[in-house]
Amino acid sequence: MKHRMNHILREIVFRLKYMITSSERRPLIKFLHRSEFYDVESSAQIEMLHRHAAIHYFERNRIWLVTGFEAAEKVLTDGSTFSPRDIEEYRLFDSHEVIIRAEGDRHVMINELIADAFLIYKDESYLKQLRNRLQSQMSVFNTSNSVDLKTAFTDPLATYSFCLLAGFNEEDTENIIAQFNDGDVLGFLHWFMSFMEKISITEYHTISEASLLTRLQASIHAGSISESEARDILKITLVASTETISSTFQRIFEVLMRDVHLRERLRGQESIRAKFIDEIVRLHPPSRWLKRKTVAATRISGVSIPAGSTLVVDIRSVNRDPSAFERPESLYLDGHRHKHMGFGSGMHKCLGMGIARKQARLFLDHFLDKMDDFLLEDVRWMQPRNITIISTEKMKVRRKGAGQAGEAPSGCPFHMGRS
Ligand code: HEM
Repeated sequence: MKHRMNHILREIVFRLKYMITSSERRPLIKFLHRSEFYDVESSAQIEMLHRHAAIHYFERNRIWLVTGFEAAEKVLTDGSTFSPRDIEEYRLFDSHEVIIRAEGDRHVMINELIADAFLIYKDESYLKQLRNRLQSQMSVFNTSNSVDLKTAFTDPLATYSFCLLAGFNEEDTENIIAQFNDGDVLGFLHWFMSFMEKISITEYHTISEASLLTRLQASIHAGSISESEARDILKITLVASTETISSTFQRIFEVLMRDVHLRERLRGQESIRAKFIDEIVRLHPPSRWLKRKTVAATRISGVSIPAGSTLVVDIRSVNRDPSAFERPESLYLDGHRHKHMGFGSGMHKCLGMGIARKQARLFLDHFLDKMDDFLLEDVRWMQPRNITIISTEKMKVRRKGAGQAGEAPSGCPFHMGRS
């Protein structure tokens, strides 16, 4: 009832505002009234939102969309006012309990445990196995002229990296990859949940002493976490590390396929490759919408927000805020760039950043020399409404000279399709 009253009041205020507002604000108000936050797509829309405020109310979804960098920093770092606890998506499989709901010392302890395990990307044998897998997967291009990069390459590779980090044996790894390849993300997650219920964490024979499973086993024996918490950590790691990485590989590939000069520059200057990867995550964050709920009424960037409101931090807009980034829409590879929020911020900031950057670098280094052999045939980015990770529906790639190859579609890579 209270919620409904709040809604009606907001609707009245909105209409009054529209009547008395200046003509400059009218397009914004019209946009907010007619659109959903998912509709914030073009650079012009992002620019309009930035020009007027750092946070906007979308009547149709009843959410506050945070687009300003400073406002986003406040939302993501002030966990006592802006909480992820009651966000539906984060409770989807009850698997975020252990991280999202853990607080204080417990959160610190679990974070440290995970962060330590994620340092595996510094381990030479881990990297060697990842490189071998990457190379062997590339053989798909020798056997087929036309390939969907997502299903034939980036999804299996990302899933393999997760299994390697977790320490699953060969048979389970191939089984997990085969299931992920199905293309139905939610179906796959359900399958993984039941697979996890069937194995005993403590008795599992892991493939490496440095794996996440080995560390979880040690923590269970030491009594610091339960077996069910260990399962949840594995589930979160799966959700957090597969689609995000696969999507990042696809972006890297797409951007470079559309820009031969950039390709040449990266070939000649290894030192800017790390910056390039971070710029890809800044401009096209795969984890685009981070949600929080206000625990109490608050004010942010001059806007009053009632308790219990849902806030969505639109990382893509935040990372293009002109008050934080010079030439925000361009790929910036020279000198120092302001830090971005592609990996989040505050207490829930990504724990897998190191792994993500390393994997993206391996992918880039391997593909850079081979991209001239391919044409980008068909790319479709999708905008899922129940999970907040952006990926492609398909990314068809054709070997040059094979069959009916068309030219790669031209145009600026940063304005193509849904991102
Ligand atoms: C380019 C790839 C990736 C991107 C863009 C990304 C982005 C993010 C973002 C934005 C968050 C914050 C979520 C929030 O505040 O609600 C996050 C959290 C997290 N990420 Fe990543 N991530 C990536 C890869 C990975 C990988 C490879 C792993 C693990 C191997 C990982 C593990 C995690 C975990 C465990 C959290 C939860 C941290 C917490 O809640 O305390 N991520 N990630």
